[in-house]
Amino acid sequence: MDQKAQDLSKAKRAAGYKAADMIKDGMVVGLGTGSTVYYMIERLAEHVRNGMRVSAIPTSFQTAIRAREAGIPLTTLDDNPVIDIAVDGADEVDPELRLIKGRGAAHLREKCVAAAARQFIVVVDDQKVVRKLGAQVPVEVMPFAIMPVMARLRELECEPVIREAVKKDGPVITDNGNFVVDCKFSSIGNPEKLEAAIAAIPGVVESGLFCGFTKKTTVIVGGIKKCTVITSPDVVA
Ligand code: 5RP
Repeated sequence: MDQKAQDLSKAKRAAGYKAADMIKDGMVVGLGTGSTVYYMIERLAEHVRNGMRVSAIPTSFQTAIRAREAGIPLTTLDDNPVIDIAVDGADEVDPELRLIKGRGAAHLREKCVAAAARQFIVVVDDQKVVRKLGAQVPVEVMPFAIMPVMARLRELECEPVIREAVKKDGPVITDNGNFVVDCKFSSIGNPEKLEAAIAAIPGVVESGLFCGFTKKTTVIVGGIKKCTVITSPDVVA
């Protein structure tokens, strides 16, 4: 691994470990998806081996497999419609703690788990912190409606592209059996309005814009030397 990749891993590990250290005995924990959450799972598993009792709700097959292998007890949203804390990564975070997520196509379950959580902890490295959201927005779409949804997305002034799988011909199929359309907007002027406009298209299941959780969000920005914690003034610890 080159120096840059090592530094990035260090930053992600620092953020992931700090988030895991915020988990308390007896909590129900939402487990996000991705390479930063991977470190959070690693650290949480250490706490579980040392006697901490938690039950976790995974947001993807990948996370479920990792958590199970690490010995973290799993549960479901059916059994825990309200959960104590959810920890997840992000692709971009803006100063108002709004997010773009979904690089790993797990944003539908991630949004369900974040919505059910009393507290939402976002773990990122410092490259993810931006002044203005501008990354492509992943949108999970029912295959049945893919063509009309693409047409409606174009009306919102973006270039929608169906995400292609790697090591499989054809489109990515999400854990929920849907397609993902990546939408590059020339500019995201009002993220809340855009999230609502995308959600209003019949056939759209969920977008990777996360604007509704800012009041319960804490962002942990990992760095090589230290972590910075950005907490919404509305968060009750
Ligand atoms: C998956 C996600 C991830 O949480 C997000 O892409 C961040 O991943 P990573 O920590 O690997 O950069 O939204 O759908």
